[in-house]
Amino acid sequence: AANHHQYQSSAAPEQSPRRSQTLSTRREVYERDFPLYKQPVEVGSFSLDSQRRFFNDSRQLRYYVEPGRNPNFDLRDGYRERYVRRDENVKEKLDHILRWILANRSKLKSKLAANASCPLDFDFVTWRGHLTKLLTTPYETKEGWLLAVTRFKGTLYISEVETEAARRERENRPERNKEMMYWGYKFEQYMCADNADGEPDPGGVVNTNEAFCTVVQTRLTDHRLLFSGEVDCRDRDPDAPAPPACYVELKTSAEICAPKQRSNFHRFKLLKWWAQSFLPGVPKVVAGFRDHDGIVVSVETFQISKISQLIKNEHNCWKPTVCMNFCCDFLSFVKREATADNPSVVYLFSWEPHKDVTYSVHRDSQYSFLPNWYIKEMTS
Ligand code: A3P
Ligand code: MG
Ligand code: MG
Repeated sequence: AANHHQYQSSAAPEQSPRRSQTLSTRREVYERDFPLYKQPVEVGSFSLDSQRRFFNDSRQLRYYVEPGRNPNFDLRDGYRERYVRRDENVKEKLDHILRWILANRSKLKSKLAANASCPLDFDFVTWRGHLTKLLTTPYETKEGWLLAVTRFKGTLYISEVETEAARRERENRPERNKEMMYWGYKFEQYMCADNADGEPDPGGVVNTNEAFCTVVQTRLTDHRLLFSGEVDCRDRDPDAPAPPACYVELKTSAEICAPKQRSNFHRFKLLKWWAQSFLPGVPKVVAGFRDHDGIVVSVETFQISKISQLIKNEHNCWKPTVCMNFCCDFLSFVKREATADNPSVVYLFSWEPHKDVTYSVHRDSQYSFLPNWYIKEMTS
């Protein structure tokens, strides 16, 4: 059962001035100067193979291959015969990142390493995708979220919990949507080679268990972050800048035929694309525009640093500063409220569109997500 705020009130009963235990998501609140966001630095990477096994290396990294003038990719090809889909019922939580942390503990050595109570030099450990959801929250009107937070040896771990609504949507996905999910991965196959001097293999199997993930460190104002995100491919030129600057994000989108479609693309799609790639410092998105039958009709490159210029003519459009300031204030809110340093305590932060962020506290519940193998290793 949820004991609302019990740790907050018992740990700091006389805190004054009394601060709100909710957080606003209204855009106007976050319209201020852009917060300090340090250039993200890649500290490592890992791979997940066709059976979703973890490897502490870059074996799954693929190489971007410039498409020809008339791509004509058929994104429907192979959907029935050459598609292996990751099992979405398996909840991996932060496990792969935690595995990576244990495998790389020596190079992460804290300046306070002598102090066993603080083995990591980070305030937050999470997936990039969770931070993307935070960045877009002030503009999101459809889907809420649940984020489980545990404080363990001074570091706050953030792991998403699937909402009831999201689970229902997933279980009732129309066949057309299932096929369109495949299109994004099929586009990657047309655009990537396994080696720097190789060619794409459109006849191969699309297996969504496979992933290459970068692990980056950065700082958002006073929040020291370590997060990991999947990377689609890199520039094949060996003289390209070091990661993450050589990485390329691939996307598909419906072709734009009318002004209304362009406006929607700017207002909704570019927000998601910008947030996802800005966080880890991936400089560009290569987009395949496809028709209703899944044929790619054009390919266009978007520089992440130019997206805010591109949307400036759009009336009442999203602003990067609102996204980053909300994320920053959410992390401050988490730091202030998630005070109990205990791997079996979860602060469950919850948000629904048009509402404030709230939270509840749970001990030894279904929400606990730090595995015993991690707790044990970090305790010794
Ligand atoms: P598109 O991006 O072309 O839509 P990513 O772009 O993050 O690398 O993800 C690759 C593909 O996974 C997406 O291609 C899409 O097909 C699928 N995908 C990712 N997140 C999804 C989501 N929340 N819902 C549906 N499909 C998703
Ligand atoms: Mg991807
Ligand atoms: Mg992609």
